[in-house]
Amino acid sequence: MTKGLRKGLTNYGDDGFSLFLRKAFIKAMGYSDDALDRPIIGITNTYSDYNPCHGNVPVLLEAVKRGVMLAGGMPMVFPTISIHESFAHPTSMYLRNLMAMETEEMIRAQPMDAVVVIGGCDKTLPAQIMAAVSVDLPTIVLPVGPMVVGHHKGEVLGACTDCRRLWSAYRAGEIGDDEIAAVNGRLAPSVGTCMVMGTASTMACLSEALGLSLPMSATIPAPHAERVRCAEACGRRAAEMAVAGGPRPSEIVTPAALRNAQVVLQAIGGSSNGLVHLTAIARRTVHSVDLREFDRLGREVPVLVDLKPSGVHYMEHFHHAGGMPALLKELGDLIDLDARTVTGGTLRDVVRDAEEVPGQDAIRPRSRPIKPEGAMAVLFGNLAPRGAVIKQSAASPRLLQHTGRAVVFDSLEDLARRIDDPDLDVTADDVLVLRNAGPKGAPGMPEAGYLPIPKKLGSQGVKDMVRLSDARMSGTAFGTIVLHVTPEAAVGGPLALVRSGDTIRLDVPARRIELLVADDELRRRESECAATPPAAAPRRGYARLFDQTILQADEGCDFDFLAGPDHA
Ligand code: FES
Repeated sequence: MTKGLRKGLTNYGDDGFSLFLRKAFIKAMGYSDDALDRPIIGITNTYSDYNPCHGNVPVLLEAVKRGVMLAGGMPMVFPTISIHESFAHPTSMYLRNLMAMETEEMIRAQPMDAVVVIGGCDKTLPAQIMAAVSVDLPTIVLPVGPMVVGHHKGEVLGACTDCRRLWSAYRAGEIGDDEIAAVNGRLAPSVGTCMVMGTASTMACLSEALGLSLPMSATIPAPHAERVRCAEACGRRAAEMAVAGGPRPSEIVTPAALRNAQVVLQAIGGSSNGLVHLTAIARRTVHSVDLREFDRLGREVPVLVDLKPSGVHYMEHFHHAGGMPALLKELGDLIDLDARTVTGGTLRDVVRDAEEVPGQDAIRPRSRPIKPEGAMAVLFGNLAPRGAVIKQSAASPRLLQHTGRAVVFDSLEDLARRIDDPDLDVTADDVLVLRNAGPKGAPGMPEAGYLPIPKKLGSQGVKDMVRLSDARMSGTAFGTIVLHVTPEAAVGGPLALVRSGDTIRLDVPARRIELLVADDELRRRESECAATPPAAAPRRGYARLFDQTILQADEGCDFDFLAGPDHA
């Protein structure tokens, strides 16, 4: 098989000339023939001034390169898109598939025998893993690592669970302008990803559980020296994989690995976004994630990792407690230990080497879980025929069975306009409904599912209400929030039929979400909706591609033409 610089020659109709030309140009960088004859390890550079979560990428790049060269390989760094949660309009999810396509195509287009993808901020790791499984070149996923914690008035702070909590306190008038300004400077005290169990931490843990990352690489804090040594180890190992030609993602991301990842997603109190991303990753292979099976796993897998927003600790505490290897060991027979990893061995080897940390309390034993059931439950019913998700581990137990009156917002703009209106007809027992915030409707399924508590209720001390939408929610958020209602309102889902004043019943133990309106009335509303002309579709560019090909949440919100062979 063609390797190294001879791979994927630019097409001039004369391969000898193509190689001659390629070498002539690359020698402009000062490379010798010896260097150019080595196996090539591509390394993605996702550094950007717009992405503080990736602020340590330059240091990691140098360490990966060092590792590659120590193992006799030739490192080649190349840029890809970088996406930060707070710097992506309209939403980072809108750009995830663009990053996945771009990363895939740059890995395919340029000569490399293995690749190390460095990412972390929420959508970047999913995009990179989607790309990697599609290309199927030997790949190591290197997360940038979580931030260390912040402190304020003797309290430990974490981005961004505490961002939301303290902003809610500010909205309710519990803290003033000076204090919220001080907090603003302390919530993100270092480079790295959000240090609670948000989407970034979740995806780093899932990458390790899938076997695509080296042991402990999900949890080492971003600023620690150990993170740099981990990067060096990734470089070394990637060079070995380049020579061996494997293992490839298709040998690692098997049904057993995908099941392990779902068990871990439940056990870490993971982000609901993790389910959408894992579904998308699976659809790039010949396998899939089944929502009913995921829910069934949730009934037998307890939440063991005691991290915010489901628990009290932060990623650095999870790390010092033994990280993912210790968690996998504790999960025991819930994990298939024969699953292969990029180390060349299996999860059995990872678990054998797990560190025992006496007295740690971030990873609970199965005999003393923080929640007896998994993080997430999947709901079905006449409001969500293809499913909806609730992060029950971060919900208020008293609201998990609740019947209330719907207060409907038609769009994000409508929500922003009316939620704090003193005349809004709303009580703490109502169900706040947001629609047209799904994959196609928003577009990009923003993290708007965490509808704010109306100011007039917040100032009365109301901290949680049942909220329901076709949007997503940040993994760092908490509350009794039903998300990913599928199909979404914008493609004719039943959410479009809800009227303010209707009654909605949520029953998480029974896994039901129901609109208590007679069928003939729903049919009448359906024909009313059908008569409304659809919004104008985008005319050009990525917006048009997105609008025409985006899939629903139960299919991972990938583009329909990017699926693996059996899903086409
Ligand atoms: Fe980047 Fe939270 S904003 S991980």
